[in-house]
Amino acid sequence: MLIAPSLLSSDFSAMGREIIKIDKAGADLMHLDVMDGHFVPNITFGAPVIKAIRPFTKKPFDVHLMISEPLRYIEDFAKAGADIITFHIESDSDAQKTIDKISSFGVKPGLVIKPDTPAQAVFPYLKDLYMVLVMTVEPGFGGQSFMADMLPKVKEIKEKAKTVNPHLLIEVDGGIGENTIKQAYEAGVDVCVAGTAVFKTDDPSQAISSLKALCN
Ligand code: DX5
Ligand code: ZN
Repeated sequence: MLIAPSLLSSDFSAMGREIIKIDKAGADLMHLDVMDGHFVPNITFGAPVIKAIRPFTKKPFDVHLMISEPLRYIEDFAKAGADIITFHIESDSDAQKTIDKISSFGVKPGLVIKPDTPAQAVFPYLKDLYMVLVMTVEPGFGGQSFMADMLPKVKEIKEKAKTVNPHLLIEVDGGIGENTIKQAYEAGVDVCVAGTAVFKTDDPSQAISSLKALCN
């Protein structure tokens, strides 16, 4: 299991130091939650902040766009140093055009589905995707409870991808911790985002190792 700590739960006054800390603690990817106050009822940070924190690690930046018009901003996030850009199928941008734009910058594209969106929504795009992110909370805030009833969607997408894109990664985001990660692992999840579980502890290194140890 790959662990992608969400910087949403980090100390925003010291994001560079927080990144160095979780890099050393064994994070596989850095998950960066971009919110515009329109697609979701919260505002975080944008491309300039991502650019500023990019030099603090060599680990991949997994940028999760919770914004209404992702297509308009792909170039900014690609140039800021994103390695993966995921955006919501429920956004106002054309999904295929947005995927193609992400790929045109050499960045890996991913589609995200909110809890009310069925797995089938991503099927037409699977062959062009690096990742599908299945939300296990309503997007907008850290610290919410894991929705286990989203896991059947992981299995459906995995099954469908077997023929068209067997290397597709499935990520889940929201409420992942020691009590929930095993269910995600058993459903076939490849990458778990974890905000609270990694940052709201005294020992992120121990937190990441325990999460990984529960997946076997
Ligand atoms: C929610 C964000 C998540 C969030 C996860 O909209 O996409 O990445 O930070 O936080 P936890 O792990 O605390 O649920
Ligand atoms: Zn996220």
